[in-house]
Amino acid sequence: MQQDFKQGVDFSHQLLSEQIAKGAKLIDATVGNGYDTKFMAELVGRSGTIWGFDVQEEAIKRAKERLEKASLKEQVKLINDGHQNMSNYINQSVDGILFNLGYLPGGNKKVITQAETTLQAVKEGLDLLKAGGVLVLVIYLGHEGGREERQVLFDYAIELDEKAYNVLHYKFINQKKEPPQVLAIKKRTN
Ligand SMILES: C[S@@+](CC[C@H](N)C(=O)[O-])C[C@H]1O[C@@H](n2cnc3c(N)ncnc32)[C@H](O)[C@@H]1O
Repeated sequence: MQQDFKQGVDFSHQLLSEQIAKGAKLIDATVGNGYDTKFMAELVGRSGTIWGFDVQEEAIKRAKERLEKASLKEQVKLINDGHQNMSNYINQSVDGILFNLGYLPGGNKKVITQAETTLQAVKEGLDLLKAGGVLVLVIYLGHEGGREERQVLFDYAIELDEKAYNVLHYKFINQKKEPPQVLAIKKRTN
């Protein structure tokens, strides 16, 4: 029996799994509790590299513990800074970037990703992305500023040159509680 369609986070993981091989270099733009970082560290293996950003020390601490328990710390650099500053830390091209927006579950719900800095980070991320690489955003609408953030990202992504980028929007259109949506941008190779 086939499964239901995947929810946003699982779909973002599926996209990365399809595009990313062992040894790849990835950015986790919103580390949070470190579930995504752990998934990405497993995906790239010991020969890969993950740069993980979060503005909250608490998030970095939780993620570090999770990675240590899973013996995945070696391939991950955790950085307690905003993703909008990623190019201060990374001076090489990367294969993939994941943003899981919003607030830290089980943490301070007032520290939320912001439209302006998220957009800045997406632009920097696309500059760092290799041809063939993919940037994936999981977007939530339920919290304050969520709709505005989605709009700003869509206004930007919809204008990206179709010859240079594939842009994909994944969302359920018949669910009353609006579940997370996925926006994925692939830098084309030809
Ligand atoms: C939905 S959570 C991420 C979930 C996480 N990926 C996981 O697997 O648990 C969003 C995170 O973004 C962080 N954040 C907010 N603004 C940020 C920024 N400018 N740069 C990096 N992280 C930011 C928050 O602190 C929060 O931990």
